[in-house]
Amino acid sequence: MAGAFEEKSAPKEALAATGFEVIQQRGAAITTGHFEPGARFAYYAHTVNSVSFYLHSHHNAGPVDPRIFGGFLEHMGRAVYEGVFDPSSRHADKFGCRIDVLAALAELDFTVMRYPGGNFVSNYHWRDGVGPVETRPIRRELAWGTIEPNSFGTDEFLGLCERTGWSPMFSVNLGTGSPEEAADWVEYTNGVLGTDITRKRQSGGNSVPTRVPLWCLGNEMDGPWQIGHISAAEYGSKARQAAHMMKLVDPSIELVVSGTSLPDNTTYLDWDREALEAVGGFADYVSTHRYLDNWSNDTAAFLTSGAAVDRQIAEIDAVCRYVAGRRRSGRRPFIAFDEWNVWYRTRNRSGTWADGAFPAHLVEEVYDLQDALVCAQFLLSFIRNAHVVKIANIAQIVNVIAPVLTDGDNLLRQSIFEALSMFVGRRRGISLHVGYDGGQVPSPDFGDVAMVDGAAILDVNHELHIYAVNRSVDETVELEINLAGADLDMLSMDVLHHSDPATQNTWEAPNAVKRVPGEMSNGPQPVMKLPPHSFTAATMSVS
Ligand code: AHR
Ligand code: AHR
Repeated sequence: MAGAFEEKSAPKEALAATGFEVIQQRGAAITTGHFEPGARFAYYAHTVNSVSFYLHSHHNAGPVDPRIFGGFLEHMGRAVYEGVFDPSSRHADKFGCRIDVLAALAELDFTVMRYPGGNFVSNYHWRDGVGPVETRPIRRELAWGTIEPNSFGTDEFLGLCERTGWSPMFSVNLGTGSPEEAADWVEYTNGVLGTDITRKRQSGGNSVPTRVPLWCLGNEMDGPWQIGHISAAEYGSKARQAAHMMKLVDPSIELVVSGTSLPDNTTYLDWDREALEAVGGFADYVSTHRYLDNWSNDTAAFLTSGAAVDRQIAEIDAVCRYVAGRRRSGRRPFIAFDEWNVWYRTRNRSGTWADGAFPAHLVEEVYDLQDALVCAQFLLSFIRNAHVVKIANIAQIVNVIAPVLTDGDNLLRQSIFEALSMFVGRRRGISLHVGYDGGQVPSPDFGDVAMVDGAAILDVNHELHIYAVNRSVDETVELEINLAGADLDMLSMDVLHHSDPATQNTWEAPNAVKRVPGEMSNGPQPVMKLPPHSFTAATMSVS
C-alpha cells in the first residue's frame, strides 16, 4: 500500500473482506477508509459508480403535455405510399392502409400527428388531394423530386386519425400557397356552415368534420432549401395574414409559427424573434427542429449530444419570453419541437433526392443502439422542460427516418422504436425537477455533462416514472431514487442495452436491440443498475 491510500473499486462485501472499514454508505456510494499507524487520518472515498436523483413533488416543471409524444407523417419517400397506405399490400385494410404498420405504430401510442409535411407542404395544394380519387391530379413534386399521385389526401388522413386516435396537426403551404388557401383548408376540415367548401367535404361522405385543432404556419420557412423561402420579415407578414384569416374561420384553432429549422442557420433566433413579433397575438407556439448526428463516429461524444436539445429549448424559450415582454403581454408563445430525431447517414446535401422515382426509397436510415439512446435524450429533455415544450413530433414514423421500416409485406421495428416504446404507459403526470448528485462525462461541445441524463414524472395515481440514460461508454452506474424520503416500490423496469452500441435491428437480426427487464434492489429508496451506454425506464409506486 502506498502511504495510507489504496485505490479500490469493489462491492461492499469485497471491501469488507480486505479489512477496510466501511465508514459511510449512501445508496450505492461507499466510502471506505482506515487508520494507519503513524498516519494522522487517512481515508479515501472510492465507490461503486453511484448517482442519486433527489426529487420532491413540489419541485416540478408542471404537467407533461401528452402532445410531446407526437409523430410526423410527410408525403415523402415511402412514408405515406408503401408506408401507412398501400392498397396493393396483403396487409391492406378496406381503406388501403396497412394493418401491420398501424399495429406497430399503435404500440407507440402517438398523440398528435403532424401532416402532410415537411418540405413537401411548401408545394402542396390541398385541393389536389380531395374529392373523387379518379379525378385527382398527378403532380410533379419539387421538394423531394418525385411525383405526387394525390390518392392519399386530407380525408384519407383524417379518417386514419379517427381510427388510430391521433389528433391531427396540419401544416399549411406558405411557399407556393396563399393565406386564403390556408383559411379555406380550415374551412374544409373544421367548418360547419353550409358553404361550397364544406359541401365538398360532405359529398365525400364526411358530414361531421374531424376538427383539426392545431395548424403550422408553413414549414422551415427560414431554410434556403424551402420552396418559397423568404426573409423573416416577409414570412412574418404572410404568416400573420394567414393566421388572421384562419382564426376568423375557426377562432378555437391553435397556431404554430415556423421558427428556426437548423440552429446552424445564420438567422437562428433572429428569425424566431422577427417572425413571432410579426405574428403577434396569433402565435400560440413557435416551431423548432433538430436532427442530431454521429458524423464523427464517436460514441462517447454522441451520447452527450442530448445537451444540445436543452440548450436549443433554453434559447428559443428566451426569445419567446423576450417577444412577450416587448409586447407587454402576459401571454407567451410556447415551443412546438415539431421535428426531431437522429439523422445523418442518409442526409443528402446534393439536393437531387428522388430523381423522378415514385415511391422513392428516401432517407431510410437504419438506426443503432446509440441513436436510440440519443432519441431517448430528446424526450427526456422535453419532459424536463414541460413548462415550455408543449408539442413535439418525432420525424418521422415509417420508412423515412423512422422507428418502423417496411420491405414488401415485411416490417421491422428499429432500435429507436424500442426506446420510444419505453415511454408508453409511463408519461402522464407532473415533471419533477431532477436534483442530480453524481459523476460527469466530458462533452466536446458542452463541457462536462451529467453521466446520467434523467427525467422523472409523478403520476396522479401515486406512481413515479424514472428515465435514465447512462452516457458512460464503459461504466455501470447504480442509480438511487429519493423522492423526499417516500417509500418507493419498484413495479417495472426496462433496460435498453447491448454490449456494442453500434448494434442495429436488421432484417436478419430483427431483435438485436430489445428492451429487457432491468436489475434493481428494492428498498425504500430503490437502487437501479444502469449498464454502460443504456437507457432505463422504470415505474414505482409511492407510499
Ligand atoms: O423530416 C424530413 C425533412 O426534414 C422535412 O421535410 C423538413 O421539414 C426537414 O428539413
Ligand atoms: O436539403 C433539404 C434538407 O435536408 C432540409 O430538409 C434540411 O433539413 C436537410 O439538410
